[in-house]
Order: sequence, then structure tokens, then C-alpha cells
Amino acid sequence: MSRADRFLNACRGEPVDATPIWLMRQAGRYMPEYRALRAKYGILEMIKTPELAAEVTLQPVRAFDIDAAIIFADILPALEEAGLDLEFIPGKGPVIHNPVRSPSDVERLGWATGRGGLEKTMDAIRLVQSELDGLVPLIGFAGAPFTLACYAIEGGSSRDFLSAKQFMYEQPAAWDKLLTRISDILIDYLQGQVEAGVNVIQLFDSWAGALSPADYRTMALPYTQRVLQAVQGVPRIHFGTGLSGFMPLLKETGADILGVDWRMDLADARAQLGPDQPVQGNLDPAVLFAPADEIRRQAKAVLDANAGRNGFIFNLGHGVFKETPVEHVRTLVDFVHEYRK
Ligand code: CP3
Repeated sequence: MSRADRFLNACRGEPVDATPIWLMRQAGRYMPEYRALRAKYGILEMIKTPELAAEVTLQPVRAFDIDAAIIFADILPALEEAGLDLEFIPGKGPVIHNPVRSPSDVERLGWATGRGGLEKTMDAIRLVQSELDGLVPLIGFAGAPFTLACYAIEGGSSRDFLSAKQFMYEQPAAWDKLLTRISDILIDYLQGQVEAGVNVIQLFDSWAGALSPADYRTMALPYTQRVLQAVQGVPRIHFGTGLSGFMPLLKETGADILGVDWRMDLADARAQLGPDQPVQGNLDPAVLFAPADEIRRQAKAVLDANAGRNGFIFNLGHGVFKETPVEHVRTLVDFVHEYRK
């Protein structure tokens, strides 16, 4: 079996010769070759220059024996399609200068499709695919409607998402319009990525765990369902954090593969989701700061929790931290491939 088949076989629940592994945020500041480029260009500039985005996408594929590439982009530029003014401020993170604060702000949102400013990502996908030439599959991605709505309303990162939740409770009609508008952009964007040649897509609902399961069901899930329903033709992964209490509900997203974070035992997730549900996860990304033996011990625990079942993709429970030692990533990737069970 080639390096190219493992990940896609696992997505379909079929047998593999070794457990496939890729890492969320596998391209980024922990890699010296990324930092060298980043010293010269801004993050949005890198995303919107296909040659640079393609180069950064390929860096971790060259450095490690990982089983998939993920296109270098971000979840937030999709909001620019709705007329939101996005900037990444060094040391502060993403900021939206004109956040959504009222129903009239929702009415003013633009109606461009997700193929306008995002077209550079489609170009990057085509470039990466021609350079990969089948070596490993390429993952496309987008944020989920709920997480993007949180950013649109909060105007940046937040701990409790109180502005977003207040808007959701006070203005349910405007909330529906906002999430519908964002979902329309995401459908176009993801369909565009599939047409440009990605082999798998992943939806990041990074903040869904801020909701109660009941609010998730009515205020977030329907939009995620609509997006996933509209984007067909490749395996679709759903990822969120803090969703341990949402396991059966997540099956209703319609995703083919469900991401699990490290706050839950993988065997427990498997038991709740049923034996035929492909899953992805779930090593705590902080374990990559531990000595090599501890990394192997913890990775073995995750693999043992899966107990050799098909339909398993090894990943972290969230993205790689920027301070992660590069050698530790190699230790993890190689161990996961060598450990058969
Ligand atoms: O996984 C990959 O290698 C592909 C690239 C990727 C990026 N962002 C590049 C990026 C992916 C999949 C994302 C997803 C993303 N972006 C999420 C969902 C995943 C998660 O972590 O929950 C979220 C919430 C964002 C929003 C975002 N982008 C934030 C909050 C920040 C700033 C915080 C930080 O880490 O600096 C970004 C910037 C960003 N996106 C960086 C990278 C590599 C760091 C930018 C830099 O080089 O300064």
C-alpha cells in the first residue's frame, strides 16, 4: 500500500497497512522553513499568493512521513466575502474591524460568492496537486458556520463568546440570516476546493464546544448539516473541540469522519459513535512537549484505545502549538507508523 492510499482508505473505513497520521496546523511557525518565509510576508499575503501557499503546504510533507497535506489557508478569509474587514495583528491574532453587532449589520453583509477573493486558494490547490503528483492526498478546509459567526460578531478571538451568544439569544432571526449567509459562502468555497482537486475536506468548528448540546442542536447543527449536505464527492471530516458531550449529536452533522479532541478517551468516543464510524484524533498537542519516551507512551495509549479498528486517522486533538520541537513531531509520526495494532 502506498503512502497515498492509507489516509483515504481509513476515511472510508477500509483496511490500512499502517495507521495514517497528519496533524492539524502541521504547517506553521514551529517549522524553521515556515518562519523563514513568514519573516518576509504577512500571513494573508502568504495565503493569497498561490506559490507561497503551495510551498508552505508542502513543507511538512517534505519534513515528515505524514500521510496527507492540508492546503495552507485559514478559516477567516471566508468572512471577507461577506464584506468583513480582516487583519492579523502580530501578537494579537485576528481582528475584524467592522464586526456584526446588530441585525442591520447583517442586512449590510455583502453577497459575493466564496469564489471571489478565495479563488487564490483554488489556484494554490491546483499548484499543490501538480507538485504532489499523487504522493499524498490533499485536504481542503473551511470553518464551520457557528465558529465563523462567533468571529464575525466578537471581532476576534474570545474566551466565552458572550457577545456572540447574546446576539444568538436576542436576535434569533438575524442569527439565522447571518449563519445562512456564511453557509452560502462556505458551500461555494468548499465546492470550489473540491473542483480544484482536494481529496478530502475538513470543517473546523473550533468553538462549538462553547454551546450546550441543546443550543448546538438548534443554533449551529442545522447550518453545518446544510454545508456538508451540499459538498459531496470527497470524504468529509468534522472537527470541533470540547464536544465530549455531543457524541451522538455529531453523527447528525452528516460528516463521514468525526474528529475527537483529547478531553475524551478515544475508546469511549468509539463506543458512543458505534463501530462503523470513522474517527480522527486525539493526542493532546501538549504531549509533543514531553520527552520522546512519553510521546511514544501516550501515542501508544491512543492507538491501543482504537484497538486496531479500521476507520482511524491519527491526529492531535487540536492544532500543533508554535513552540513545538520539530524533532518531537518526527518521533510521533514515525512511532504511529511503526506501531501496528
Ligand atoms: O493546518 C494547516 O497546516 C493549514 C493551515 C491552517 C491555518 N489556520 C494557518 C494559520 C488551518 C487549518 C487554520 C485553521 C484555523 N484558523 C482555525 C481552526 C483550527 C483551530 O486552531 O481551532 C482557527 C480558529 C483559525 C483562526 C486563526 N488563524 C487564529 C486564531 C490565528 C492566530 C493565532 C495564531 O496561532 O497565531 C490564525 C493565524 C494562522 N493561521 C497561523 C497559521 C499558520 C499563524 C500565523 C502566523 O504565521 O503568524
